[in-house]
Amino acid sequence: MKAEDVLRFHQQLGAEYLAYAYPESSAVYPTGQRRTTCAAAAIHAELGRAPQSAVDLGSGAGDLCFLLASSGATVVGVDFADTMIAAAEKRLQALPAEIRARVTFSRADIFQNSIPSGSVDAVSALGVIETEPEDGRLFAEAKRMLKPGGVFAVSCRNRLFNVMSVNRHTRRELQGGGLDDLLAEAERLMARSDARKTEAALAELVRALAASSATNAAAPPVPAPAPISIGETRQHTPESLAKSAGANGFTGGTFIGVHPHPFPPALEALAPELYNRVAAAAEGFEREPLGLLWSSAFVAAFTKA
Ligand SMILES: C[S@@+](CC[C@H](N)C(=O)[O-])C[C@H]1O[C@@H](n2cnc3c(N)ncnc32)[C@H](O)[C@@H]1O
Repeated sequence: MKAEDVLRFHQQLGAEYLAYAYPESSAVYPTGQRRTTCAAAAIHAELGRAPQSAVDLGSGAGDLCFLLASSGATVVGVDFADTMIAAAEKRLQALPAEIRARVTFSRADIFQNSIPSGSVDAVSALGVIETEPEDGRLFAEAKRMLKPGGVFAVSCRNRLFNVMSVNRHTRRELQGGGLDDLLAEAERLMARSDARKTEAALAELVRALAASSATNAAAPPVPAPAPISIGETRQHTPESLAKSAGANGFTGGTFIGVHPHPFPPALEALAPELYNRVAAAAEGFEREPLGLLWSSAFVAAFTKA
């Protein structure tokens, strides 16, 4: 995807990005919110502690910057859309003084920023790699900014989920001959399942569903915002991303599935509230192999070698 098209899309979206990526409607899964939480968790797990310094590339309305700052990091958010920077700055002003003191935003292209080399514990890029023409440039820029042993957290659209989604993505894999390789990766992933953890996550899902059906029945649904899309963007499997990370000087790897879809997405249009309640109740699977297989996105964090 061309950088000018990505910029035009986000420039026009501006503050409205929040309504679609961080929806309040219970009929829509809060993917942006959850992706931010999972990215912070992946950084913490891969680094072994909370980062003290971080750069968020493509920072949008600032959510990950605010979350990392709330656990003590000094954070710079970099974004080339001035409407996004304005939305992030405005939201920052509403936060407590200790967060305000730790976060700054810089309007710049990711690949022409002024962050010094070897200067931070963590770099993140959520919702960015899928609009890049290839992986290498983003990994190289993250590596440049990181201290030795620092971590890079990146979110991806999950190509492995094409096996489970039973939709146009599955058909494309079938017609393009990609399904065999995806099934082989899915089998390698599932072979790593731990029966006890899977059972515990399943029990939690059943418990959460039983509890939520009673509480949600009384709440009137908030209408869902109209869907908007930047168009067809790139997908990765966990293994393809790990390969890119390795080729660009990173080791390790902490993977977390984002937005579980225990049922095929076609069901969502028919019963959106219930569908997304099941998705939220399945968050216990995010770190399990099954969760990575049935999630439409994932975050991964790698260590600078
Ligand atoms: C899908 S949004 C995600 C925003 C935020 N990371 C989040 O998860 O809420 C992608 C953001 O990356 C920014 N972006 C994409 N490519 C960029 C580039 N080359 N340089 C600077 N910003 C970029 C866009 O302007 C947009 O704000």
